Amino acid sequence: MEKIVVKGVKELRGEVNISCAKNSILPIIAATILCPEPIIIDNAPRLEDVEVICKLLSELNCDVNISNVNDRLTINTKNIVEMDANEELMRKMRASFLIMGPMLARFGYCKLSLPGGCNIGSRPIDLHLKGFKLLGAEVVIGHGFVEVRAKKIVGNRIYLDFPSVGATENIMMASVFAEGTTIIENAAEEPEIWDLAQFLNKMGAKIEGAGFGKITITGVKNLKGISYTPIYDRIEAGTFMIAAAITNSKIKINGVNEEHLRPVIEKLRECGIGFTNYKDHSIVVDGRGSKRPLDIKTLPYPGFPTDMQAQMMSLLSIVEGVSVITETVFENRFMHVAELQRMGANIKIDGRTAIIEGKPRLTGCEVKATDLRAGAAMILSGLVADGETVVNDVYHIDRGYVRIEEKFRNLGAEIYRINM
Ligand code: UD1
Repeated sequence: MEKIVVKGVKELRGEVNISCAKNSILPIIAATILCPEPIIIDNAPRLEDVEVICKLLSELNCDVNISNVNDRLTINTKNIVEMDANEELMRKMRASFLIMGPMLARFGYCKLSLPGGCNIGSRPIDLHLKGFKLLGAEVVIGHGFVEVRAKKIVGNRIYLDFPSVGATENIMMASVFAEGTTIIENAAEEPEIWDLAQFLNKMGAKIEGAGFGKITITGVKNLKGISYTPIYDRIEAGTFMIAAAITNSKIKINGVNEEHLRPVIEKLRECGIGFTNYKDHSIVVDGRGSKRPLDIKTLPYPGFPTDMQAQMMSLLSIVEGVSVITETVFENRFMHVAELQRMGANIKIDGRTAIIEGKPRLTGCEVKATDLRAGAAMILSGLVADGETVVNDVYHIDRGYVRIEEKFRNLGAEIYRINM
């Protein structure tokens, strides 16, 4: 069992390089199913989730290779077989479900077990299925499986009741070869949606409006092999911004698209954190000033990201005054609260709202990474807690952060991984 041990309290200094976005590369890997030619993805982040989706494709008879040079991932789905995907891998990661759209587009058929992933709410797939149905697919659910089947995919107008990231991506991929035009309304606007559309368009798809609320997909006949580098991971960058803030440090973060992080940067500015832009996607974060409490509500992009909520709570738990965080995207995303309370944080939950009364100090102890971002929050709190913090269930963190302890160690933190 691997654990991460963090010793507080140390000032961070130096710079950190951000990896490519987990939430971009996962749909991009799924989208390779749409093209029977080799596809190259450079700077592929070495993450557990990336490994899971690559394994899934390998088991479907695709050629998947990752080389250490440039972290280059080469995928050839030419010989993919139309068989049921490995159930265990499907259950490991919710994003595995993103192969359904491309499989439907390529074979007119796909059967998958219902997805797993972070334990942060019921996370239904009704919007994905609504989209597939409107594109002409027949959908059957039973015995833990979903089956979609279509003789022909025909473009349609699809309104999403909620701008779901996964549903927008799955529907976008399912309709790439559709007859006519597909319009997705109330589509998710996350930068990773834009990135997926860029990737598909580079292969020859015709997608307009991705990254905005209305996406238009005009069906094309086929796609060609390309090479592509995904965007930087805005959540990893945001996590290091909070690391600077929580440790009263000044650090440089390389690999930041400021626009993608606007909702996080604006809130941190309000808290008292300084930002200076450097050229070439670098930003200096100055967390040394005095800090103010915040009122935050998570929302779909461009609102404050739910994937930054736990890390922000770590910071606010040591900022003097009362802060309020309301989680509106997922119904069960406060599991880290109990862990923060173990470290001495003063947090009360009222439905979907957390009320945080900042304290000057936290105390190190054994905690759990209850999900991916919650795990990052435990490390952040560990950086400023008295004594030693031992984070268990580290596999959650490895799903979405590349060598997190190494990156923190390079910034001067006392942090290491143990196996026991
Ligand atoms: C993606 C991200 C995840 C992030 C989330 C919200 C990936 C691989 N993961 O997850 O890191 O936390 O967006 O920004 O990109 N919903 C439905 N019906 C559906 C689909 C979703 O009700 O068919 C609900 C979910 O239960 C949830 C909300 O919509 O409450 C948001 O989910 P969604 O945007 O789909 O998140 P994911 O794509 O799973």
